[in-house]
Amino acid sequence: MSLLFSYSLSLFFFFFFFFLNLHALRASPDTGILSSEHTNHHFTLHGTRRYVYFTGKPRWVRPMTPMTLTYAFSPDNMINSLSLSDIRQVFKRAFARWASVIPVSFAESEDYGFADIRIGFYSGDHGDGEPFDGVLGILAHSFSPESGRLHLDAAETWAVDFGMEKSPVAVDLESVATHEIGHLLGLGHSLVKEAIMYPNLKPRDKKVDLQRDDIEGVQALYGSNPNYTVGDLSESYISTNLAVDFRTSRQSKWANFILALIIICLCICN
Ligand SMILES: *[C@@H]1O[C@H](CO)[C@@H](O)[C@H](O)[C@H]1NC(C)=O
Ligand SMILES: [Zn+2]
Ligand SMILES: [Zn+2]
Repeated sequence: MSLLFSYSLSLFFFFFFFFLNLHALRASPDTGILSSEHTNHHFTLHGTRRYVYFTGKPRWVRPMTPMTLTYAFSPDNMINSLSLSDIRQVFKRAFARWASVIPVSFAESEDYGFADIRIGFYSGDHGDGEPFDGVLGILAHSFSPESGRLHLDAAETWAVDFGMEKSPVAVDLESVATHEIGHLLGLGHSLVKEAIMYPNLKPRDKKVDLQRDDIEGVQALYGSNPNYTVGDLSESYISTNLAVDFRTSRQSKWANFILALIIICLCICN
C-alpha cells in the first residue's frame, strides 16, 4: 500500500468516526426546552453575538418608557404539586432578571383575560397546535411578541427546590421560566451553550443567570435599562468564556490525536 493510499484511508476513518461521534451527540436523550419556534427564526451571526430573533424581529411596543407589561396565571390551568405562592415568587424573580437589563417592567395582574402575558400549565394537545409530550422532552413553549402565551408541560415534575423535590426527572421551574420569558420578549434560541436561551436543560439543572449573549440580544431589541451597567456582568461571564475556549482547544487536540492514532495504526498494519 502506498503512503498516499494509507493516508486517504486514515482520513476516511477519521471522518467516519467523526460522524459517528456527531450522531451519538444528537442521539443523546434530549431533555431540552425545545420550542416550536425552531422553524421560525434566523441566525444573527456577526461578530461574537450568537443570539437569534424570530423572523421580522417582533418586539413589544408600548407608548410609555419604561414600558410595563402585565402577566397573569391561568386560574384554570395550574398544578397542585406546587403552591401558587411558590410559583408566583419564581416568576417574579425570573421577570426581574430581564427587567434589570432592559427598560421594561413586569407587573402581576389578577385579570387573566386582559394581561399581556398569560401563563399556564397544560397537558398533551391543548389547542394551539403544539401538543406537549409527557415527562421530559419538551418542557414548555411560548410564542413570539406580542402573543404573550407561555405554556408549561403539566406532566413535568416541576421543582422550586431540589432539596425538597428528589425526583431524578425534576425540572427547575425558575430556569424554564427565565428561558421562556426570553422567547416572550422576542429572543429565539442561542447557539451559546451557557446562555439562558440555549435550547437544552437537563433535569435537576438550575440555570437562571442571564449571560452576556442573552443581555446583548434583548438589549438590541429594547435598549438598555438606564440602571444597568456593564460592570454588573459578574465574574462568571469571564470564566465562562475561558471555559469555552479551553474546551474548544481540547477538542481539536483530541481530534488530532485520533487522526494521529489512526495513521499510526494503518502504518503498523502495512
Ligand atoms: C431605575 O431605578 C429607579 C430607582 O430604583 C426606578 O424608579 C426606575 O424605574 C428604574 N428604571 C428602570 C427603567 O427600571
Ligand atoms: Zn426555547
Ligand atoms: Zn401551548
